Amino acid sequence: MERLQKVIANSGYCSRRKAEEEITKGHVTVNGQIITELGTKVNVSDVIEINGTVLKKQDEKEYILFFKPREVVTTTHDDKGRKTVLDYIDTDLRIYPIGRLDYDTTGLLLLTNDGELANLLMHPKTEIEKVYVAKIEGILTGKEINKLKNGVVIDGRKTSKAKVKVRKVDKKNQTSIVEITIHEGRNHQVKKMFERVGHTVLKLKRERFAFLDLKGLRSGEYRYLNIKEVKKLYAMANFNKKRL
Ligand code: URA
Repeated sequence: MERLQKVIANSGYCSRRKAEEEITKGHVTVNGQIITELGTKVNVSDVIEINGTVLKKQDEKEYILFFKPREVVTTTHDDKGRKTVLDYIDTDLRIYPIGRLDYDTTGLLLLTNDGELANLLMHPKTEIEKVYVAKIEGILTGKEINKLKNGVVIDGRKTSKAKVKVRKVDKKNQTSIVEITIHEGRNHQVKKMFERVGHTVLKLKRERFAFLDLKGLRSGEYRYLNIKEVKKLYAMANFNKKRL
């Protein structure tokens, strides 16, 4: 028996917090009965409906590490008909991306149908390290590097500490390649951080997510995570969440 909100979140329908909201609003039924109590336990044979839709229980879990190309949207469907990450992946399961990369950002993206892991990894308190490599306009000064490291204000809130390493400087073309490591996942965060210190991001690639990198993959290719990697992600996410 498991708590109703956990079962809903694990199905990938929505986050646990959203599931709690749906329950308290009276939008959830179990075997036809409206349930508004959050602690309610359910088992596998119970039929759960949210807003009239029967919740699909996905027992088979899939974990994919994808090398996202440019000009691909990180959604499962695009109204404008653009390519989505799912166009690259051969699966019958209802997988979805863990977090987002912009349309023009390339690199490492995880996809899964494991709602529990997805929610843990996307939780703001789960401080998973992400390493990005940005090609930027101009050359960073020491002062600007320190600002990025200590946090800059974007959308009215300061970013947390970051690691910044200049990999290459092209004086002739006035561009630089900079590695930046962050552990938040705010909207367009890296671009906005550089913009804040006066540099436009020309290209952006995510090279690492936690201990995972893109080794062995070319753009547009993917591989499955192995069980050891999945367990390690769970352990990291749970550990980091508890620490705060
Ligand atoms: N930061 C950005 O600005 N864009 C991304 O795609 C990821 C992080």
